Amino acid sequence: MKDRVAIVTGAASGIGLEVAKRLASVGAEVYLLDRDARQVSLHAQMLVEQGFSAIGIECDITDESSLERVFQEIVVDTGRIDILINNAGRQFVAAIDQFPSHEFESMIKLMLVAPFFAIKHVFPVMKQRGYGRIVNMASVNGVIGFAGKAAYNSAKHGVIGLTKVAALEGAAYGITVNAVCPGYVDTPLLRNQLADLGRAHKVAVDRVLEDILLPLIPQRRLLDVSEVADYTLYLLGEQAKGITGQSVIIDGGYTVQ
Ligand SMILES: NC(=O)c1ccc[n+]([C@@H]2O[C@H](COP(=O)([O-])OP(=O)(O)OC[C@H]3O[C@@H](n4cnc5c(N)ncnc54)[C@H](O)[C@@H]3O)[C@@H](O)[C@H]2O)c1
Repeated sequence: MKDRVAIVTGAASGIGLEVAKRLASVGAEVYLLDRDARQVSLHAQMLVEQGFSAIGIECDITDESSLERVFQEIVVDTGRIDILINNAGRQFVAAIDQFPSHEFESMIKLMLVAPFFAIKHVFPVMKQRGYGRIVNMASVNGVIGFAGKAAYNSAKHGVIGLTKVAALEGAAYGITVNAVCPGYVDTPLLRNQLADLGRAHKVAVDRVLEDILLPLIPQRRLLDVSEVADYTLYLLGEQAKGITGQSVIIDGGYTVQ
């Protein structure tokens, strides 16, 4: 990854932050994008203090013009974008008949439309240079359904479709595009949904993990962000240049049963 220019969205927390740290630690010049200005600059600063190359940028990735402007500035500064990790996401749990329509639209915009914006605006640069690595952070909820997660499931199924199309269109230009599909990973996104899941399943919030989620997972544990980052880094390396258009699952056996 030495001197590769990488963009990670949703890099102020959880999986995105871990992927950004890992990329920086193997020599990439990492741009951490997040709508949380304070956290993203704090984490970028910490990476710089460790001797790595990292820049934190406040960006709401659902705003296409902001995203395009940030990408243009990066290209002006570096002449390239080699790696794009479409990672930003959030969760909202409710039955379809009670699901606020504006929440549905907003989640589709964040986890399907915004990755489309990002790929659309990074493709010309990658095609011109004949190299690119794109990873879309999908989910096992892009492969199977989960009651209460209409928007999340729809967005994640959609981004897997987007991954396949982008892989086909990028194949002749040295660009690979893959989706990583984690099961349950211990991050703020997961912890924040426990109350909603408790309400939906009529279980006390402090029992949701033990009674609802862990029984679904054969390994009976949450994944660590480092496991998802390892898998993502593998897909970005030279050894994975033949892997494209795939949705690779890391879920402790969740989807096997
Ligand atoms: N945690 C899990 O169990 C799990 C499982 C499967 C997939 N995922 C996916 O992994 C990705 C990262 O999730 P996480 O668990 O690390 O979540 P997280 O909540 O820890 O981090 C998400 C980050 O996205 C940022 N973000 C949200 N909206 C944004 C916007 N409009 N513009 C820019 N940044 C924005 C947040 O500020 C936050 O820093 C998501 O796409 C999520 O769907 C998570």
